[in-house]
Amino acid sequence: MLNFEFYCPTRVFFGRDQHKRVGEIIKSYGFKKVLLHYGEGSIKKTGLYDEVVKALNDAGIDFVELGGARPNPVLGLVRKGIEICRKENVDLVLAVGGGSAIDSGKAIAVGAANDCDPWLFFMKKREPERALPVGTILTLAATGSETSASAVITNEELKLKRGYNSDFHRPLFSILNPELTYTVSPYQTACGIVDIIMHTAERYLTQKGEAEVTDRIAEAVLKSTINAGRKALKNPRDYKARATLMWAGSISHNGLTGLGRDFFMVSHQIEHEISGMFEEVAHGAGLAVVFPAWMKYAYKYNIPRFCQYAVRVWNCEMDYANPENTAIAGIEATEKFFREIGMPTTMKELNINVTDENIEEMAEKCTNYGERTLPGYIEYGKKEIIDILKLCM
Ligand code: NZQ
Ligand code: ZN
Repeated sequence: MLNFEFYCPTRVFFGRDQHKRVGEIIKSYGFKKVLLHYGEGSIKKTGLYDEVVKALNDAGIDFVELGGARPNPVLGLVRKGIEICRKENVDLVLAVGGGSAIDSGKAIAVGAANDCDPWLFFMKKREPERALPVGTILTLAATGSETSASAVITNEELKLKRGYNSDFHRPLFSILNPELTYTVSPYQTACGIVDIIMHTAERYLTQKGEAEVTDRIAEAVLKSTINAGRKALKNPRDYKARATLMWAGSISHNGLTGLGRDFFMVSHQIEHEISGMFEEVAHGAGLAVVFPAWMKYAYKYNIPRFCQYAVRVWNCEMDYANPENTAIAGIEATEKFFREIGMPTTMKELNINVTDENIEEMAEKCTNYGERTLPGYIEYGKKEIIDILKLCM
């Protein structure tokens, strides 16, 4: 097992009706002025907005609001949120929604507390020194942003999507009521399932570190997500299935499923170039395209690890005479499952028109214009990234 440091400070309030406590929770911390931040309107349609406003009013919490965080959230709105926070002396950002509203809220919270342009943090040119605290009410089981150290924002002018990790991004508290995800569409539910799988699988299918506990936790997260995913798609109001997905989403990306192993999320980095260039691409759908291509490209560098994944996660039979067959069976099982839940597995199925020039540009951006390679079984430079993107076609 490799050395590790684990820090996951978010207080989680999990279960039915927990969001109605949001005012009382904020009051218990002593905050006075909140920025209520949300997406493009689903919380108004579902009635959640009214419930949150009532809870804040009942607890006597003063708030200002900013909606409009779109899927693949953008820097322009972050800048607007920062201005509001400074002008209104906001002392807590409350993000209500999926990963996009939460990431936008995290970027606002960091940006408002530091004196430089927030994009510098995403370009890793500056480190934040402080941040406003963030609370979240999660409405979509997917990104794990509700407990993760990441925030991902698109600079809409540069068409560049970048994330960075910081302990300042760990929310102070997150409210997880699985019932709030009943209204998520089948497509977005499936995108979420893929993303949850990916946050664990990208930590699992790596090279260094023997970590039995981590492996077993990861396998449990993967198997429960596959199981519950099928059930939630069949019956969107299946509380047990929605609860499993919601908790799996948080565990999958809070660090737990990678402890003691060395990982770098290559498929995630490549996907961010796709949804950064084509804003209509949902992150989970982009991953469903990139991951099978990456697996086909990479499995040969660690066949035993891919066999373990195939046997333990997908119940494939071990072919001792020719282990490569088992590794390939695991890849096929993953791809088949993505298709079963209605996900695209090729660029064509993403309904985007990707040209050779686009691929070249995505690969260049992914290497930060030659400044980095992506570490993994091999070093992924521009050529390797282009090869993988071509396998996605
Ligand atoms: O915007 P609204 O109107 O709220 O609608 C959203 C949006 O259209 C809708 N939705 C959310 N909850 C709903 C609902 N519709 C009905 N009922 C509900 N309860 O779903 C759509 C997608 O929402 P979004 O927040 O964009 O999805 P997701 O949670 O998948 O977030 C994706 C973003 O997170 C980033 C992705 O790159 C992408 O930008 N990620 C963030 C990570 C992190 N911070 O740790 C890690 C991930 O790997 C990922 O990169
Ligand atoms: Zn993800």
